[in-house]
Amino acid sequence: MAWHFRRVIAEQVSRVLGLPSESCSRVAQCIQTVPVHRKHESPDFQLFMTSLSEGGPNGTFSNQEERAEQLAGKLVCDSVISDIGTTRGSVTFKINRDLLTRNVLQQISKDGSLYGLNTELFSELSRRKTIVEYSSPNIAKKFHVGHLRSTIIGNFIANLKQAVGNEVVRINYLGDWGLQFGLLGAGFSSFGSKEKLLANPLQHLFEVYVKVNTAAEKDNGIKLSAQEFLRRLEGGDPHALSLWMHFRDISIQEYAKIYKRLGAHFDDYSGESFYKEKSQEVLKQLESKGLLLKTDKGTVIDLSEEGNLSSYSTVMRSDGTSLYITRDMAAAVDRMERYNFDEMIYVTDKSQKNHFQQLFKILKIMGKDQADRCQHVPFGLVQGMKTRRGEVVFLEDVLDEARSRMLQNMAASETSKQLDDPSDTAEKIGIAALIVQDFKGQLVSDYHFDWDQALQSTGDTGVFLQYTHARLHSLQALRCPRDTEDFEIASLREPCVIATLQHLLRYDEVIYKCLEDLQPRYLVTYLLSLGHLANVAHRTLQVKGSSSEAAHARLLFFKNVQMVLGNGMKLLGITPVNNM
Ligand code: ARG
Repeated sequence: MAWHFRRVIAEQVSRVLGLPSESCSRVAQCIQTVPVHRKHESPDFQLFMTSLSEGGPNGTFSNQEERAEQLAGKLVCDSVISDIGTTRGSVTFKINRDLLTRNVLQQISKDGSLYGLNTELFSELSRRKTIVEYSSPNIAKKFHVGHLRSTIIGNFIANLKQAVGNEVVRINYLGDWGLQFGLLGAGFSSFGSKEKLLANPLQHLFEVYVKVNTAAEKDNGIKLSAQEFLRRLEGGDPHALSLWMHFRDISIQEYAKIYKRLGAHFDDYSGESFYKEKSQEVLKQLESKGLLLKTDKGTVIDLSEEGNLSSYSTVMRSDGTSLYITRDMAAAVDRMERYNFDEMIYVTDKSQKNHFQQLFKILKIMGKDQADRCQHVPFGLVQGMKTRRGEVVFLEDVLDEARSRMLQNMAASETSKQLDDPSDTAEKIGIAALIVQDFKGQLVSDYHFDWDQALQSTGDTGVFLQYTHARLHSLQALRCPRDTEDFEIASLREPCVIATLQHLLRYDEVIYKCLEDLQPRYLVTYLLSLGHLANVAHRTLQVKGSSSEAAHARLLFFKNVQMVLGNGMKLLGITPVNNM
């Protein structure tokens, strides 16, 4: 596909420049697709002279534009390349229209869900071992919008890495240790109910936690018994541990259900509790290397370059117990041993940026080279996400709200179809809306959330993507396209088809860009444009009432557009709907 064209261009360019034949694939790597232009037809590929000179043959011209002109002057059109031009220091190429059409459509039909993911662009990326740690809520505490962001962003990164051939381990690092369990342990008998716990575990644990917390503020006795319970827990008291385990288990079961609704899942539910002992071992190692310093600020590790404690991290409480960062140190070391990963990605809000910088630095000081393979992906705050119950406390509330608002919109819309399970469809559309809204900008930016804006059916929303997908799908009911590879190309020569095909040609480059800096917005923008192009084509191209050959070719075209749209949506974590 696109690579076939790139190779043809690269061969000629290499020949004209007198480059050895081995450099052909490097030249091909330098060739890029051209973004589709709304008003006029763009060329398909371009080759920037700057990318060519990097480490390559020394340019004889200082001026890139002149160099491009010179090169273009020596190149000739052939059976594949139908036009050669220049623009802003690059040589541009147009491919024979019918070849382009045939090639792109055949490639999508052949590759299906792998389309654009197995091209030469990714040859060096695949087969790496990647850990993505995301979501990581705190049991019995509030699941704030930050946890929702972490869940969908981490899920996207894991999907992306997996799609291009990495082995991915998805870890949920639960906040499953700490004073909240002391409070629950001390107060569950007075404030908790077994029935409520079974019926609604997350809500009930949180309610009890809040009640005991309030009571403990007034009543010192409760505070003391919470501390006492935590001590028993830390000391491994079987009774205390079994209650803790019960709370943890039912919370995970409940979370798993909600993650499923969100289209996310995990290979491992680990948690801070797992590392309380291991962090003692790590502390011992540090101690033996002379890296632990007892100061009036507690037991610290010096992180300063100068060795003067101008920057440090506290790693042990005065009673010898571990801290958040100590448990993270132990978890990182454990994962290094257990998984021998090539990269580990942590997804949390940006307030923890400093925490992860310190963590990676400590790992380095400990002599762990894998520290260089760790990366923190920070994201910004969401303002204004409210549900009927008010501020977001439970993930479930957000999903319920998205679903019920979407159901209402669907009921009010005249174009809505009779659906088997409207509530399920509404949920999938609602979640698409949440994801697209969240992924539109730079992850690290804060944004204001607005339900009405996110749920608009036109404009750049997840609802629009779902709507377009369903519309393309419904076309397929018109006539079942024969799965033959030959189709009447003459019915696919309209500018709207060419523009869409050019856009489809870019898919792998967009995925590559997402991988480079782990930002979903390139894919979101890409899919929204694909949706707009598809809708223009849908309005322009007749299927019904045209000859059977023309209908067949056009249906094949639409089917392939739907395929790429659906693939991209799934990478984002959206379940495409076929009817709405
Ligand atoms: N449970 C933490 C919180 O809610 C997030 C954990 C992030 N991961 C980590 N390895 N520290 O703030």
